[in-house]
Amino acid sequence: MEPTFDFGSFPVLETERLQLCEYDVKYVDDIFAIRGDPEVQLYNSEAHKTKEETIEFIEEEQEAFRMKRELIWALKLKETLCVVGCVSMFDWDRYHRRAQIGYDLAKSCWGIGLAQEAVGEVLRFGFMNMSLNRIEIWTSTANARSLRLAERLGFTRDGTLRKRILEDDGQFHDGTVYGLLQSEWLGTISSAKHHRPAKSG
Ligand SMILES: CC(C)(COP(=O)(O)OP(=O)(O)OC[C@H]1O[C@@H](n2cnc3c(N)ncnc32)[C@H](O)[C@@H]1OP(=O)(O)O)[C@@H](O)C(=O)NCCC(=O)NCCS
Repeated sequence: MEPTFDFGSFPVLETERLQLCEYDVKYVDDIFAIRGDPEVQLYNSEAHKTKEETIEFIEEEQEAFRMKRELIWALKLKETLCVVGCVSMFDWDRYHRRAQIGYDLAKSCWGIGLAQEAVGEVLRFGFMNMSLNRIEIWTSTANARSLRLAERLGFTRDGTLRKRILEDDGQFHDGTVYGLLQSEWLGTISSAKHHRPAKSG
């Protein structure tokens, strides 16, 4: 099955509460608030200290799209039009039909299911439009919220790599890799349809 997506134009996606749109410098204030928050960045690169760093980051992401290397969606809340996070798809290996995803959310939006909603839609895009066979999440084993998210989305914990990540505390931490196969994802989609209660009236 050939991918229908080829980086020709940016694929805007939509869920119940979110629009998943192109990263853009016009969102710099919202993105700086997220990327500049040390708590959000705890298991990621160092928190941005200035808006200039965030602008540079946004421009790098846009360039990565132009170079057909990476996709990053800004998660825009339909209700407020604020950008509250991102989901990215990278390391797309066309031969082996696999890629990795990453995600973050503003701290004020944790615990209400927005990451699950957004990543769920990106999984659909990856399996259906990019024709992926396998999607991976690599995360610090200490990142409990990220592990819970992967498991809620139906990923299997494929392994733990000991002391793989040097964190800001100066210590090496374990990393965990999760994988979800297209066949498993198709199974969850069809069983969700199967279990949906019949419409009454
Ligand atoms: C990883 C991260 C995106 C997860 O966010 P999250 O808020 O835990 O995940 P979700 O948005 O899917 O919300 C799930 C929680 O909302 C609850 N929830 C409430 N309403 C919900 C709904 N309608 N649907 C699903 N879950 C819902 C769930 O029960 C769950 O609760 P829990 O926190 O007690 O487990 C977030 O912690 C984050 O941005 N961390 C910093 C960046 C980071 O570490 N990224 C990963 C790098 S690999």
